[in-house]
Amino acid sequence: MTIRTVETTPYSDQKPGTSGLRKSVKAFQQPHYLENFVQSIFDSVGVAGQTLVLGGDGRYYNRQAIQIILKMAAANGVARVKVGQGGILSTPATSCVIRKYGTLGGIILSASHNPGGPDGDFGIKYNTNNGGPAPEKVTEDLYARSQTITEYKILEAADLDLDRVGDRTLGEMAVEIFDSAQDYQELLESLFDFDRIHQLLTNGSFRMVMDSMHAVTGPYAHAMFEGRLGAPAGTVMNGTPLEDFGQGHPDPNLVYAHDLVDILFGEDAPDFGAASDGDGDRNMILGSQFFVTPSDSLAVLAANATLVPGYKDGLAGIARSMPTSAAADRVAESLGIDCYETPTGWKFFGNLLDAGKATLCGEESFGTGSNHVREKDGLWAVLFWLNILAVRQQSVEQIVQEHWQQFGRNYYSRHDYEGVESDRANTLITHLRGALPTLKGKVMNGYEVDYADDFSYTDPVDGSTSQKQGVRIGFTDGSRVVFRLSGTGTQGATLRVYLESYEANAAKHDHDPQQALKPLIDIAESVASIRSNTGMDQPTVIT
Ligand code: G1P
Ligand code: ZN
Repeated sequence: MTIRTVETTPYSDQKPGTSGLRKSVKAFQQPHYLENFVQSIFDSVGVAGQTLVLGGDGRYYNRQAIQIILKMAAANGVARVKVGQGGILSTPATSCVIRKYGTLGGIILSASHNPGGPDGDFGIKYNTNNGGPAPEKVTEDLYARSQTITEYKILEAADLDLDRVGDRTLGEMAVEIFDSAQDYQELLESLFDFDRIHQLLTNGSFRMVMDSMHAVTGPYAHAMFEGRLGAPAGTVMNGTPLEDFGQGHPDPNLVYAHDLVDILFGEDAPDFGAASDGDGDRNMILGSQFFVTPSDSLAVLAANATLVPGYKDGLAGIARSMPTSAAADRVAESLGIDCYETPTGWKFFGNLLDAGKATLCGEESFGTGSNHVREKDGLWAVLFWLNILAVRQQSVEQIVQEHWQQFGRNYYSRHDYEGVESDRANTLITHLRGALPTLKGKVMNGYEVDYADDFSYTDPVDGSTSQKQGVRIGFTDGSRVVFRLSGTGTQGATLRVYLESYEANAAKHDHDPQQALKPLIDIAESVASIRSNTGMDQPTVIT
């Protein structure tokens, strides 16, 4: 087999975003596009003689990309690649395998919750040896490399069979096709009381539905809930991964997981519903006629953590992204532990977890996780909830209501304006930044501005800083409005407006969040002129 050196020229748009390089499938199919990025990873991290993990969420182009990456790895002197069977590995399972076997890192092929198929999106992300997304200094290096690339190396060889578990070779390189679920399920079994959850799921009255949204968690969920935990067949819906996710949008929220929402808010609703996204790192939790906001979910998990075997000794700390509600902060305060506020994106949690400063992490964007891996973990969150339900023997709604009674309620909502023209979105943010100095002390709709800034973060572990992570307007009563542009979209810009208010009085907790947040929604419009700047009358997605 010969190694071919192919001449190439840089693509200017290969800067990794919030989670890796995410583009349309068509962009990835341009000549040398994927190869340039992969060679840039190899060059910047140095892979000769090393072991890598490789897998993806099964979306369109996953298999082709895996064959290309394997041949490039062989040509670049990689010693061994561990590939999930069929090229499938959820994002948290990849993180688990990198950590368990101490590999140099791993490559995850996914565009997370973005739609798939020939006209959908594709993505590639490098994770380092702690199992987490590469930190900014690594992604900056690899971007710099992609901008000066002149050639890449690839082995001329036939495609490998990815579907049969076992050891193969490709040139000099060892390729190990392994069972995608085993290591990951073992890790989850070490954290949760599977026997107790088994009792709950087989007690004859408790009913749950898990919606895998035709994406990567299907096989894991079938094996775990219907296999190991004894739930009846049919518990997992949309459980067969499809290259185009059944033409759906595999994002577990109230808008895109509407099949599940209809069931949990319908007649004779089950007790518990959950959904996960394209690559299995996000989760949505529902009770009968009840939605748990991701911010509340993090707070409830934290408050109940000692009921779960893996966390019975308590938490070292909690970390949340800046736009996530402060519900978890109140739990941390009552537990006497630290709560960290990081920029958006899971990569910022890595140092805190590695340093033992935080045990649980969460984002408002349906992401929750812990120090068991270095990614958010959808099925982990589902099992955590089931473990709590099994111990407390109460409904999801009762648990959350009691939580609000104890800690107060953080009303929360995110309004997304998708597909905004990039120039218009940038203008909106620039104007807003310009107006920040004039806002302090101003009273709007009865709310007095306490601070107005652009969030910047200094990592408490390595001292690195990240600027311009979101425009925040905080009010004296603790309410907030936050504006930021998405770093994961592939078409135009997405403006995210995050709204939060706090109500301590349990007697006033029966509001609809949109109602409770109305004054803040109006303030957001008045300071940012969202309608005229975006040309849109209302958000495209409200969660
Ligand atoms: C979005 C979420 C963010 C999450 C990321 C990856 O990023 O807002 O919390 O970490 O997806 O799942 P954004 O598009 O806002 O940059
Ligand atoms: Zn995801």
